[in-house]
Amino acid sequence: MAFTKVCTLDDVWQGEMEAFEVDGTEVLLVHTLDGEVHAVQAICPHQEVELAEGELEGKVLTCCMHLWQFDVSSGKGLNPTHAELAKFPVKIEGDDVLVDVAGIEAKFAHA
Ligand code: FES
Repeated sequence: MAFTKVCTLDDVWQGEMEAFEVDGTEVLLVHTLDGEVHAVQAICPHQEVELAEGELEGKVLTCCMHLWQFDVSSGKGLNPTHAELAKFPVKIEGDDVLVDVAGIEAKFAHA
């Protein structure tokens, strides 16, 4: 598979995030205040809660349920550090946001 158009930059403003289904995969697009667009798994690795319901502060995404925190630029867990988000490649073409989900599965971690 290849890059699929998900939305335009107008659909996810800076400082916001929005979940989309891309080729059967739930993807959370995060547009940071410094203008970067990251695509990570839309579901928390902990207990399958929608990460779009969480809080975004800079590059730090905090799940609304038990406050696990992730760096959306790397996908790495900040607290706890053993958790991690799957990251998907993103391409910006003009105003279009494209994501490639091929071969990338959501990650899960418990406790
Ligand atoms: Fe996200 Fe528990 S479900 S931190």
